[in-house]
Amino acid sequence: MTKIALVTGANKGIGFETAKQLAQHDIKVLLGARNETEGKKAEEILRAQSLDVTFVKLDISVSHDIENIKNYIDREFGKLDILINNAAVFLDSAWFGNNTETVPLKTLRDTFDINYFGTVELTQSLLPAIRKSEAGRIVNISSVSGSFGVHLDETHWLYALKPYAYSASKTALNQFTVFLANALGNTKIKVNAVNPGWVKTSIGSDQAPLTPEDGAKSGVALALMDENGPAGTFSQAGETLPW
Ligand SMILES: NC(=O)c1ccc[n+]([C@@H]2O[C@H](COP(=O)([O-])OP(=O)(O)OC[C@H]3O[C@@H](n4cnc5c(N)ncnc54)[C@H](OP(=O)(O)O)[C@@H]3O)[C@@H](O)[C@H]2O)c1
Repeated sequence: MTKIALVTGANKGIGFETAKQLAQHDIKVLLGARNETEGKKAEEILRAQSLDVTFVKLDISVSHDIENIKNYIDREFGKLDILINNAAVFLDSAWFGNNTETVPLKTLRDTFDINYFGTVELTQSLLPAIRKSEAGRIVNISSVSGSFGVHLDETHWLYALKPYAYSASKTALNQFTVFLANALGNTKIKVNAVNPGWVKTSIGSDQAPLTPEDGAKSGVALALMDENGPAGTFSQAGETLPW
């Protein structure tokens, strides 16, 4: 039976590459995008490569969109095998420095609405469909910015980069990963978080060393692993990261 995957924020960057790589494994991929024009453009590019992808309108901060996608998946496929929670925003004013004292609450709320609340609402809503999969996989695209270990280590290259809203939203996402993996411990569903690395995208900037193609690999590997794979982990390219 064909595997079905949903990738959020799949119109560009790491999400687009993740959708492409999953589809190259003969998986039917739903390309979630909040902007219809951009989503359809991505669908067109991948279909031109003979990949089985379908654009779905999905702003993860809009409950109505989440309800629609849940109903669409139930109706069309009756299950979901892979959920890649990739969509996110970076709304802090800069990557460098520490804005914890001054970051506007609106920035914090807007960031959490998407990176955390949207991801949690979508995941909870799709869990009944994922439970119907023979081997459900949930991959949360997190960031080392959300790691306590990294931010307590003065020798780490990221130590000087403390954008509070983005980082805190990823810390909360990491907690969601650990708790959900625990809650689903007696099922076949495996939940993990990954750091894609520093990747050339809108969020990563054009200074980043990795391509989106490389950045997608960590998440794709966790989405495709068999029943012996881990759950409740935080890693990059198979290497464990500090929470
Ligand atoms: N690039 C890096 O160095 C890096 C490092 C660590 C972690 N990450 C993580 O990797 C993931 C992908 O980011 P990226 O680097 O590929 O950045 P990106 O190119 O900016 O892609 C972000 C994607 O998320 C979508 N998005 C934002 N808000 C959304 C919403 N409310 N509903 C649905 N989609 C939404 C964007 O859509 P629009 O085009 O409509 O804005 C876009 O498709 C993110 O979770 C990011 O935190 C990236």
